[in-house]
Amino acid sequence: MSDAGDLAEWLRRVFERRSQAETPTDILGILGSSRNDGDTSTLAQAVFSHLPDAQLINLNDYAIAPYHYHHRHRHDDFINIATLMSEAKTIVFASPVYWYSMSGQMKIFFDRLTDLTEIYKPVGKSLKNKTAFLIATGGTAKPPAAFEPPFAETARYFDMHWGGTLYAQASNISSAGESAAIFARKIEAMASGRMIRAA
Ligand SMILES: Cc1cc2nc3c(=O)[nH]c(=O)nc-3n(C[C@H](O)[C@H](O)[C@H](O)COP(=O)(O)O)c2cc1C
Repeated sequence: MSDAGDLAEWLRRVFERRSQAETPTDILGILGSSRNDGDTSTLAQAVFSHLPDAQLINLNDYAIAPYHYHHRHRHDDFINIATLMSEAKTIVFASPVYWYSMSGQMKIFFDRLTDLTEIYKPVGKSLKNKTAFLIATGGTAKPPAAFEPPFAETARYFDMHWGGTLYAQASNISSAGESAAIFARKIEAMASGRMIRAA
């Protein structure tokens, strides 16, 4: 399909989606975990419980295929989420640490962001000046040093600002309520433009 054809398809989906459940939101959370009710979901929901107008979506509810060099999977659900990202002001990724890295669900999604540099360039460019955050859980007291950089660097690649990470150890999720509330205030301040961006 031509670039124009891809854009037409994207626009068709945007208008089609207006009548469905996915509505534009200033603060978009994207959860990628192998458990819908696991630690990362619990921590993310603790944060989002303080953000009543935000939307937290779960990658497990979407069919997103791995990146394909010839964009064979262009008609799956990826562009629906990318469109939500383009309409948000802040994007909050939420992933557990699986083998020192992001979850498989999140990695597939991140690989598909490549589509935003190829067949959906206007969507990729629309991410400029948004702010990205990360919510993460893991078995250790601190996340691996290499865990945050793929999120932060990808955000910067798309000219987004990096807002920071809220991390909680799996054994401490239930006592992370206060840090979740503080993190939510930071996200809210960034989305509403009340916080001066550092980078
Ligand atoms: C497949 C898998 C790999 C994991 N790898 C790590 C790891 O490398 N480092 C770590 O600290 N915890 C690791 N853990 C523990 C999880 O990060 C931790 O239990 C997390 O809170 C689980 O979140 P979830 O309930 O959203 O899956 C792993 C767990 C699983 C299931």
